Amino acid sequence: MSAADPTTQTLAQLGDTTPEKVVARFGEVRQRFDEQSVQHSKDAASWQGFVVSWTGRKSGILTLIGDNWLKPAAKELKPVVGQELNKLKAHIEATLEAKQKEIEAAAEEAAAARDRIDLSLPGVERAIGTRHLIQQTFEELQQIFLSIGFSVVEGPEIETPYYNFEALNIPEHHPARDNMDTFYIEATKGVHLLRTHTSPMQIRTMEKQQPPVRIIVPGKVYRRDNPDATHGYMFHQIEGLAVDTDITFCDFKGTVEYFVREFLGPKAKTRLRPSYFPFTEPSAEVDATCHVCGGSGCRICKFSGWIELFGAGMVNPAVYGFVKNGYDAGKLSGFAFGIGVDRFAMMKYGVSELPVLFQNDVRFLRQFP
Ligand code: PHE
Repeated sequence: MSAADPTTQTLAQLGDTTPEKVVARFGEVRQRFDEQSVQHSKDAASWQGFVVSWTGRKSGILTLIGDNWLKPAAKELKPVVGQELNKLKAHIEATLEAKQKEIEAAAEEAAAARDRIDLSLPGVERAIGTRHLIQQTFEELQQIFLSIGFSVVEGPEIETPYYNFEALNIPEHHPARDNMDTFYIEATKGVHLLRTHTSPMQIRTMEKQQPPVRIIVPGKVYRRDNPDATHGYMFHQIEGLAVDTDITFCDFKGTVEYFVREFLGPKAKTRLRPSYFPFTEPSAEVDATCHVCGGSGCRICKFSGWIELFGAGMVNPAVYGFVKNGYDAGKLSGFAFGIGVDRFAMMKYGVSELPVLFQNDVRFLRQFP
């Protein structure tokens, strides 16, 4: 404070000898405080300095007033000086407190603004992908059989030669093994192979379950084929098996026809051609009228009007003899089929090359969302 500062002098030195003069003097001080509080409220550092200059214990203005005005005051002036000083203190405290609250609120608001999450910002979109065309076809085929009472079972891709061949009535030197050549695995528990078809699950299911049996078996199968536009070393099948005491060829034909119409549309016609599989007797190739030309002949069906769909037949009674816990060939009958899922997908969706199904090129996959 400058030497001219009245708070460094006593009231007597200032010539304030009456209560009126004392009140007026306090009025001046209060006015000075009010002016300064406005001037210093702009920034935090100068506000801090201002607060100390008024309330500092050692040399703040309030302390000076106490030391220089109140303590040495003449006895008759003391009460009025005391009162005025108290009023001034109360005013200063209230003003500072209000300002302090203002500062804290502003700081809080600034922090909140910094942390605020803008809910209107677009989020990070994660593409969740779609089901592969093969998977879609699997589901489509399964749905048809589920709706007529079949249930789904799955089995091992690594099989024993017994379940893959012998139990299906394909003995060691049977020529049917030639076109089902596959990958053999020397395992500690004897020779295994990658199954060449889903048919082993016919036997495995019958060994676990008494008739009636109505199952489909989706899965991967393997063959030592030379890869070309329609062949690979791995493809997908859905096996079907129905066994009961009273299943006839009519049930077989009716089921196959129903399935073909459901998959290819109500106009599709079905034809059975004689065929051969060691585990079915009689065996058939199921054909359907070409889904492209409707049967009149086109490039897709090689101008025959018919498309070959899958192999099937009535379960060969010899097969029941391989079921370990006893299936009575005298009492039981049934039918089986083996659908090539990849072929179905290619046919229905006009895919001309098998390899594109497995190259995972998104330009292909995105066509089947
Ligand atoms: N398992 C045979 C194959 O893969 C298909 C088939 C299954 C035929 C069931 C008849 C009965 O070629």
